[in-house]
Amino acid sequence: MNISIFGLGYVGCVSLGCLAQNGHSVVGVDVNPTKVGQINSGRATIVEKDIDTIIAIQHSLGHIRATINFREAILNTDVSIIAVGTPTTAQGHLNLSYIMNVAEHFGDVLKEKADVMPDSFHVIALRSTVMPGTCEKIAAMIESRSGLTANVDFAVVSNPEFLREGTAVHDYYNPPLTLIGAGSERAGKVIRSLYEELPAEVVVADIRTAEIMKYVNNTYHALKISFANEVGNICSSLGIDSHQVMDIFCKDKQLNISNYYFKPGFAYGGSCLPKDLKGLQTLAHDLYLQVPVISSIHRTNEIQMQRAISILMRHSYRKIGFLGIGFKAGTDDLRNSPAVELAETLMGKGFSLSIYDDNVRTSELTGTNKEYIDQHIPHLSRLLVEDANELAEWADVLVICTKEAEFTEVLKNVQGKTILDLVRLPADIDPSNEYIGINWSLDSADSPAQLTFR
Ligand SMILES: NC(=O)c1ccc[n+]([C@@H]2O[C@H](COP(=O)([O-])OP(=O)(O)OC[C@H]3O[C@@H](n4cnc5c(N)ncnc54)[C@H](O)[C@@H]3O)[C@@H](O)[C@H]2O)c1
Repeated sequence: MNISIFGLGYVGCVSLGCLAQNGHSVVGVDVNPTKVGQINSGRATIVEKDIDTIIAIQHSLGHIRATINFREAILNTDVSIIAVGTPTTAQGHLNLSYIMNVAEHFGDVLKEKADVMPDSFHVIALRSTVMPGTCEKIAAMIESRSGLTANVDFAVVSNPEFLREGTAVHDYYNPPLTLIGAGSERAGKVIRSLYEELPAEVVVADIRTAEIMKYVNNTYHALKISFANEVGNICSSLGIDSHQVMDIFCKDKQLNISNYYFKPGFAYGGSCLPKDLKGLQTLAHDLYLQVPVISSIHRTNEIQMQRAISILMRHSYRKIGFLGIGFKAGTDDLRNSPAVELAETLMGKGFSLSIYDDNVRTSELTGTNKEYIDQHIPHLSRLLVEDANELAEWADVLVICTKEAEFTEVLKNVQGKTILDLVRLPADIDPSNEYIGINWSLDSADSPAQLTFR
């Protein structure tokens, strides 16, 4: 395929060499004539393991070249990759001026290209790291300058880059995944074909999902490092080998290094997480250590509680039915249950509450958890009802607090209510209801967030 790459820095230079090595004919475009000159004399524009050899060989084979002429590069290629810089402004916003400069060129040249090649469908893959909505902005800019229509005459696709400097070539050939955010199937297929040789899973998502992924990934990587450093500081103050601690931590592939606990939803609770978090925080405090990451976790939990309360306060309805009150599904344990706290707050604000939780009711009847219930939440136990369907009929608003399979059945028959879902219960919700996911929308809950190929 004939490919043009805009921006010949770390990402652009590696893509130029590696795509050429995989059999494509690639032209690099940069506003910096020195970088263009380097490529045209067979030299890499960056210092990076293996890239100098790849560029030298691909240049000698005639598979790569570079230019400062945008027009010529766009007219003579079918696919373009944008890899220009996206620096941060002093206020922390993204500087999109380089990207939009490239977009302007595309607007002008694609108009000309459409005149001479009316059937052309130029695909532009945005590989730079950008905020959600940027591909739309680029497409709008091209549309306004060319009169063409996005996803009909051309397409702008998000295709974030996951390489790390220092191991960039290795990472190019061994990415954790290939992510394509496309608004057109045709464009998605074109970009997929560029990476056919790579061993990675190809994930196709909507454009905004793909755009936000680099930010989510890199923020999490920074969080991992900071968490490990705080744990390390605590351990070393106690004479414990922090590397051994984190090695053991990483051996737990069920709860620690896994997708467990990675579903957005409601606040955590239970008898262990809040207690042990507080314990480690106090230990750090007693060691005169600052652990801001660990210390802020509880605050985030409180904000999630507040979020649920705010959503319910927006409605004028007063009758609220709770489906579940335990701290998670399948348990009668009410200690530190965030649903208990939510219920108590709502009662304090004058809402009428009714609660259905079969685990808690059973334990009350059998006396298993009776002592705790009588001592700590007698005011709530009086609100427990036996029939979930009756509760659903009575309530104006249903709050789903635990992911019990039986709630799916209950919701099937519910109509004309407001439903606040804190757990993303798999359910067939009648459209007459107002469905609110605490941090997702019904559209995204309805349609799979991604389609996996291979
Ligand atoms: N460096 C990394 O490890 C890495 C990894 C993943 C993603 N990214 C992202 O990829 C993007 C590029 O990063 P980079 O490190 O390669 O940047 P870089 O600064 O090394 O290279 C950017 C290149 O773009 C050129 N350029 C600027 N304006 C241009 C224009 N209008 N037309 C053509 N060329 C232009 C510059 O001259 C420069 O050569 C950024 O959004 C970055 O966040 C970088």
